[in-house]
Amino acid sequence: MSAPVITDVDELLTTTRAVRRRMDFDRPVGRGVVEECLRIAQQAPMGSNLEHWRIVCVDDPSLKERISALYTEIWFETVEGPLARNEAATVTRLSPSTRPDRETADRQARILGGVKFLVDHLTEVPVLVILCSLKPVPEEAVGGTASGYYGSIFPFAWSFTLALRSRGLGSVMATALAHRADAVRDALGLPEDWRPITLLPVAHTKGLEFHPAPRAPLSDVAFWNSPDEPAGTDRA
Ligand SMILES: Cc1cc2nc3c(=O)[nH]c(=O)nc-3n(C[C@H](O)[C@H](O)[C@H](O)COP(=O)(O)O)c2cc1C
Repeated sequence: MSAPVITDVDELLTTTRAVRRRMDFDRPVGRGVVEECLRIAQQAPMGSNLEHWRIVCVDDPSLKERISALYTEIWFETVEGPLARNEAATVTRLSPSTRPDRETADRQARILGGVKFLVDHLTEVPVLVILCSLKPVPEEAVGGTASGYYGSIFPFAWSFTLALRSRGLGSVMATALAHRADAVRDALGLPEDWRPITLLPVAHTKGLEFHPAPRAPLSDVAFWNSPDEPAGTDRA
């Protein structure tokens, strides 16, 4: 086992950020630490008590090139192109111009810059982890089956990310890769029923210090019994 560098649970939970620009591309990532974090993530909850996840860890440079080429296409198809054409849905979802104030607009601009940075540097990331689901794809986007579908994958992704962070590595849930799930499956020669859900690029982080991110006041998002009674911040 590699010795964890961050052992305080609350610190881990509040400082595990989406890491893109602070990935250390020059420092190799051993397979051992990746497998150690995957073993920890296997303890995550999942629907139906079925381990309907499959994980493909990519460290072969030619495969990384193929994943990276797809990721670049996705960026142009789903972000840069639609923003340039001023397409309403993408502008609302991603454009800093739609954020309510200067501070959140600046933050969104920084995030978009970070997302593009990752697009441009994906081949340099030491390990690309592709997390797949084996569950039948739900017919509807919402409802219990849809919740169970994604809810059986993202706890694994988050536990993996936390385990990485506790060991001085970082990742980001790059779900955009799922826009080309079929092409990813073909590029990696995966079985038909393995559906890529998210990419988790893995690298050591440059430095270990990360901070809690700005979030809305709890009273804006959490309530007691009904939306009429916002949760306070003064209760223990
Ligand atoms: C469901 C989900 C999808 C995401 N998709 C992407 C993505 O495709 N590309 C990316 O660079 N970051 C992606 N992210 C990372 C978010 O941008 C990031 O979590 C968010 O901006 C908050 O930043 P923080 O995690 O550092 O607090 C995703 C995160 C989640 C939870």
